[in-house]
Amino acid sequence: MGSRERIKKGFSKLLKEEKLKLIANYFENPGEVISLLKSYWHSDTRQQKLFDEFSENTITNFFTPYGISPNVMINGKNYIVPMVIEESSVVAAASAAAKFWGDRGGFHAEVPDVRKVGQVHFGWKGSMEQLQQLFPRIKERLLADTEAITVNMRKRGGGILDIQLRDYTTQIPDYYQLRVEFDTCDSMGANFINTVLEQFGHSLHDFLTEQKELPEELRNAEIIMTILSNNTPDCRVKVWVECPTNQLDGIDEHLSGADYALKFKKAVDIAHIDIDRATTHNKGIYNGIDAVVIATGNDFRAVEAAGHTYASRNGRYKSLSTVSINNGMFRFELEVPMALGTVGGLTSLHPLAKKSLELLGNPTAKELMMIAATMGLANNFSAVRSLTTKGIQAGHMKMHLNNILNQLQATDDEQRKAREFFKDQTVSYAAVEKYLESLRK
Ligand code: MEV
Repeated sequence: MGSRERIKKGFSKLLKEEKLKLIANYFENPGEVISLLKSYWHSDTRQQKLFDEFSENTITNFFTPYGISPNVMINGKNYIVPMVIEESSVVAAASAAAKFWGDRGGFHAEVPDVRKVGQVHFGWKGSMEQLQQLFPRIKERLLADTEAITVNMRKRGGGILDIQLRDYTTQIPDYYQLRVEFDTCDSMGANFINTVLEQFGHSLHDFLTEQKELPEELRNAEIIMTILSNNTPDCRVKVWVECPTNQLDGIDEHLSGADYALKFKKAVDIAHIDIDRATTHNKGIYNGIDAVVIATGNDFRAVEAAGHTYASRNGRYKSLSTVSINNGMFRFELEVPMALGTVGGLTSLHPLAKKSLELLGNPTAKELMMIAATMGLANNFSAVRSLTTKGIQAGHMKMHLNNILNQLQATDDEQRKAREFFKDQTVSYAAVEKYLESLRK
């Protein structure tokens, strides 16, 4: 058995092969582990080098399925949507909803705003009134000192939109904040925002130091930290589907479309009043969103963090989607914050992220927000539809069966027979194992 000793200092300085060997020693059969991990290296060493350098201490690549949800109609335009996700039912759920709503006018989407926020957190011994007096000159200095950083973004129509001063001294002594709003056009903007903010920190510090008329203790600001905020309620996308309730006929064999619409609404309303359900309901939404966000090389942690904060914006965590039924019209809507980019970062570096964007017709960031949110609503629709009709296990288990069969190394013939057999049988690992045993006797 491999040792669990601490790895000595300097792991990051080792060569990749050395790291791999060292880690392999933690396994029972190091030689086998080395061959397995190496089998996931890209055969083109230049490509592999690219992946190695995305992160620190890379020893291999971790594969995740890259699937396609075809024919997603958004604002009258057809998209072929790439989705990267390991959960077996997500692409199928998205595709089923896309087909269903494609026959009912498709998805509708809009981006009301794209403002992002960054903050300079600082300590200063003076009063808010004193700071406000200095603020017009501070602002001027901050803008002047960042001109070179913002010039290209301004040319593209974005840049710094607003700088505000916030007083938190009643909560933390001497704590103030510069709250800065940005438009980062088609880039996610984290690098741009953080570069501007760091310069703001230096400039604010220097400006105050230079104010000779101020008492000594006010000439010193403590720049605590400067960083973008992942809370992006004003960088937000709205997507919805709607149809007369009679177009929901047939979803539930026992209910009319109108009655089914009421049942579906109840299921979504529950996620508005019950936090336990809301968390799972929203998780289903992010199944779809994250898959697109990852496929396009964007930051799904940022997107999720913003979404869950938005879900709690009224003081209590609740569903991100809503249902309304008015005059026989069913409307299912999702509104979520989302900071995405279609230029810069991994979107241009990761060869598959680039291809994903190409497949989507090289969308703008706003368009990509609409696509990702659509897949969120699509997955949410399919999940709630399954939950309120036949339950999700039937669909999940069908996909799960494939995984179990692969795990048990079933041959093509065994797989075909098992799929047929489990059409009307409950799938479980034990049941599949037993069935394969019976075939192999
Ligand atoms: C599973 O990944 C997602 C669901 O649990 C979402 C939901 O319950 O709405 C099916």
